[in-house]
Amino acid sequence: MSDFTLTSSEEISVKKTMVSLTEVQARQRQLIANFSHELRTPLTLAYGYMQSIHRRSENLTDFQKNALELAMCEMQHTIQLLQESLELARLDSHKICLRRESLLLHSLVSEVISIFPKVKDREIVIETEESNILVLADADRLKQVLLKLIDNALRYSDTAIKIVLEKSGDYVSISICDWGCGVSLQDQPNIFTPFYRVDRSRSRVTGGAGLGLAIAKVLVDGMGGTLNIYSQLGEGSIFQIILKSSVSST
Ligand SMILES: Nc1ncnc2c1ncn2[C@@H]1O[C@H](COP(=O)(O)OP(=O)(O)OP(=O)(O)O)[C@@H](O)[C@H]1O
Ligand SMILES: [Mg+2]
Repeated sequence: MSDFTLTSSEEISVKKTMVSLTEVQARQRQLIANFSHELRTPLTLAYGYMQSIHRRSENLTDFQKNALELAMCEMQHTIQLLQESLELARLDSHKICLRRESLLLHSLVSEVISIFPKVKDREIVIETEESNILVLADADRLKQVLLKLIDNALRYSDTAIKIVLEKSGDYVSISICDWGCGVSLQDQPNIFTPFYRVDRSRSRVTGGAGLGLAIAKVLVDGMGGTLNIYSQLGEGSIFQIILKSSVSST
């Protein structure tokens, strides 16, 4: 028997370990979802009270006003994080239904690009040989994925961003390319894991919670596609979404 072949008792033990790992992950996700749900309601309420004080801020000193604005900013960030954790938990438990509709890719991508405020010297260009590529996807969810990938490309690079649209056979690919810091080979398998950030200092300047790619991956998987990364440290990254075309090549 080769070194790589398991005996039947070893196989049973591996299967048991796999089952219990999946159970632990499921319980962990449920815990995060419950926790996020319980925290979101009181925080949203408290944020509402702060907003109403801010609206009547003429009675506050500059120091108080400043402190209130900082607290509101932190609270908004936390509410957003809780919302994203809940979203991920719902997606993981298949509680969100994804549509499959035929969409004109070029206009969908252009619409997403127009949402980004014009950052000085940051160009986002679309490159394609065919302007009428049709993709089978859920429009809102695909926009959500693109927003997350473009946001990352802008955040982790300071160059122009290129979005390449291609059709090959029955498949369509959307590649978001940047020439920024890149991701090392060692980090690449982990970046789709919730809360994983390469910059472990979790600096507010460059990063969020580490949920964007985890949500993007679950959404692309849910639409029957794949999300790949091609990257080299210090050179840049390509995040490639592959989805079915709504026009069969046969
Ligand atoms: N285009 C990119 N270039 C270099 N590193 C990237 C790129 N996109 C993602 N990363 C790395 O992968 C990590 C995970 O990305 P992800 O989008 O999940 O989280 P985030 O951007 O830190 O926070 P958020 O939840 O706000 O999206 C990032 O922290 C960053 O280290
Ligand atoms: Mg992100």
